[in-house]
Amino acid sequence: MQFFIDTANLAEIGAAHQMGVLAGVTTNPSLIAKIVDDPAAFTWQMFKDHISQICQIVDGPVSAEVTALDADGMIAEGEELAEIAENVVIKCPVTMEGLKAITYFDSQDIATNATLVFSANQALLAANAGASYVSPFVGRLDDVSSDGMALVKQIVTMFKNYDYMPEVIVASIRHPQHVIDAAMVGADIATIPYSVIRQLLSHPLTDQGVKKFTEDAAIMKK
Ligand code: G3P
Repeated sequence: MQFFIDTANLAEIGAAHQMGVLAGVTTNPSLIAKIVDDPAAFTWQMFKDHISQICQIVDGPVSAEVTALDADGMIAEGEELAEIAENVVIKCPVTMEGLKAITYFDSQDIATNATLVFSANQALLAANAGASYVSPFVGRLDDVSSDGMALVKQIVTMFKNYDYMPEVIVASIRHPQHVIDAAMVGADIATIPYSVIRQLLSHPLTDQGVKKFTEDAAIMKK
């Protein structure tokens, strides 16, 4: 299972990249809003520049989300975003209009990430429209007492049954157990907030071990 980072924060992307674990990046408008100092002054060009900066750090797929609600608007935005770099993936919601846009992008060989997937049928529709990735949101399903990871398992199984092509990105990950569960059910990718990537690494016995080895190594004269 590959690791993507779910953030628009350049420092976090750079840090995860330096760890050597980063295969891609996912962003969304809410994540962009978090890194913008002055939303009133934030322009479409600034958004594109930011996506470009991410693409300079990471070679793998970088999802940039369209914000128009109609297919024509999504296509216009997505075409501009796709010109930023070869690794930009156009993120579209699984709405009627989003599926139309995904179908168009597929015809142009532009990669897409079908986002806001909350049901197996939405994932099937996105696959048939030609999405390159589908993103079930596990945390938000867990939040409403649905089993987010059961949905991921369904999608992975269905795609295997029929040789559907989209890769499954487990999104809305909230804690390290989500990451393990995603790998256990065979998801292709987990897109993980930086705070959770840090948690994956952390273990008190590792810290204790490093401390003790450092103390014992101090007996050696250089
Ligand atoms: O990739 C989607 C993700 O950013 C949503 O996460 O925590 O807002 O549900 P969350």
